[in-house]
Amino acid sequence: MKRVAIITSSDMGYQGKREDLSGPAIKEIVEREGYQVVSMDILPDDRSMLSKRMAEIADENLAELILTTGGTGFSPRDVMPEATEDITERKVPGIPEAIRAYSMTITNRAMLSRATAGIRKQTLIINLPGSPKAVKESLEYIIGALDHGIEIMTGEAGNCATMRLQN
Ligand code: MTE
Repeated sequence: MKRVAIITSSDMGYQGKREDLSGPAIKEIVEREGYQVVSMDILPDDRSMLSKRMAEIADENLAELILTTGGTGFSPRDVMPEATEDITERKVPGIPEAIRAYSMTITNRAMLSRATAGIRKQTLIINLPGSPKAVKESLEYIIGALDHGIEIMTGEAGNCATMRLQN
């Protein structure tokens, strides 16, 4: 079973002043898809705290997938993309490209998401926007393709070119 760690970036959530509805929205979707949720953290919009936690999950091999929510917009405290880029070793631009392309068919505000994705060791990290609605729209669109990527990343599956030669 593939393991997912969920991280919510929210000053208000961290202070207990706002209920986190987006972390639970992610949990519901991934569990429906057969993933195991191993941790759910609510952290402040703090670049070093966010990057430290993501690096820890990857370095200790606690999850194959980290899904983050929040902190991808234009507010001065929105630093999730920077925190992610601080600790990822390889970029995965296609995932945020796909999310934004699809989300633009729903709202042109999708272009305001600065979300990124990348790989550290054997962990794929994907930023999702902050609202439960945006989380649902984004995650349900990409989730079907993630399994294959994770299997290639962990070496469980051969790459697509090899598989095509075999088939
Ligand atoms: N993507 C989808 N699918 N649906 C949405 O409603 N909201 C946008 C965008 N992406 C939205 C979306 C808005 S309004 C913003 S400001 C950015 O995501 C960043 O969101 P965040 O600051 O909550 O991370």
